[in-house]
Amino acid sequence: MNTSDHPFSISAAPRYAGMASSPLKDIFALAARPGVVSFAGGIPDPELFDLETVRECFEWVLKNQGTRALQYGVSEGETELREQAARRLCRDLPTDTSHIQVTSGSQEGLFVIAQALLSPGDTVLVESPTYLAAVQAFTVHGARIVGVQTDEDGMVPDALAEAIAEHSPRFVYLIPTFQNPTGRTMPAERRRAVAAVLQSTGTLLVEDDPYGELSFSGERFTPIAALPGMGTRTLLLNSMSKLMSPGVRIGWIRAEGSIRSTLAVAKAAISMQSSVVDQLAVARYLATADLEAHVERVGSVYQERRDALHSALRPLLPEDADLTCPAGGMFLWAAPGNGLDAQAMLSDAVEAGVAYLPGWSFYAEDPDLSSMRLSFVTHSPAVIEDAVGRLAPVLDRHLAG
Ligand SMILES: Cc1ncc(COP(=O)(O)O)c(C=O)c1O
Repeated sequence: MNTSDHPFSISAAPRYAGMASSPLKDIFALAARPGVVSFAGGIPDPELFDLETVRECFEWVLKNQGTRALQYGVSEGETELREQAARRLCRDLPTDTSHIQVTSGSQEGLFVIAQALLSPGDTVLVESPTYLAAVQAFTVHGARIVGVQTDEDGMVPDALAEAIAEHSPRFVYLIPTFQNPTGRTMPAERRRAVAAVLQSTGTLLVEDDPYGELSFSGERFTPIAALPGMGTRTLLLNSMSKLMSPGVRIGWIRAEGSIRSTLAVAKAAISMQSSVVDQLAVARYLATADLEAHVERVGSVYQERRDALHSALRPLLPEDADLTCPAGGMFLWAAPGNGLDAQAMLSDAVEAGVAYLPGWSFYAEDPDLSSMRLSFVTHSPAVIEDAVGRLAPVLDRHLAG
């Protein structure tokens, strides 16, 4: 028999076993159906992009730095961008260009960190629930993910101490400000308590902060990395995705010490360097545009939308239901409890023209099956109110059943 008659199928590496398709892909396909108002993705409203200024920055770069912008660059990142990143970080903790590793968004930053730090069998402690794609980046590098108890202030320090004693983790992964998926923020006192546990146990922190500047009140939350003694034991990730544009794919890691050269080697192995044109345009944007004013404008629109979603949902949920009202970021978290199955409800919700992300996918273990993540940033208050109105009878039916 001629083997070439058989269709050939390339098998995936074991680390990708079970990841050939993701249930989330199906959910996003459902959410993208015409006529469906989707709260599923954290997609910035394109109407709010600072398009004209960004265009000017790209034009300036191509006119003044054109040949350099089109050439290969260094793996650590372009100096101008690293200077701008360091300048922003200096508001909270002393940082210079040597501390900055540029990445193609925080997602690549998480992958670079996983490459540089993780060995198969290592444990990573995460908030329960946490950002799904970080879990994926750690899992494909062989890590075992353990969820640690959280409350309305974030990870519980005693539970963290216990989990560290039990699992000796390689690192702890936290999103302390306007967390994805819950929108919750860790208050200053909790940050200090968590830092104390990390220091007394000699544990590393990976602090992911893509939303921190998207604060509706203007209040800024100092990263845990800036607490005394934490700078050396924290890898801090920032991103331009939520502030300027997710399309440019620019972010950075702040790190101290010898791990920096390993991060640069890992970055080079993955992608040589981030797009030089994009790096220079973002650097130009950070040097010349009024990012604070832009973020304030975007934040006030998002706040109105958060209010619309929160006040439309609140009366539909049981009194004891958990519903967050985040002071920034993009997501609101609803956990109605009462036996509701958010995944089972989704097809009826989509039938009614509304989509959300069932919350189970954000848990490493023991998911709250009633939970769901809703992004409030994409639609106007009128669209939000209309969509939640259509969700009301579906929720009613599923809460009763
Ligand atoms: C917590 C968190 N980290 C990282 C990312 C990745 O963002 P990007 O790669 O666009 O910077 C996201 C995106 O939604 C996120 O929510």
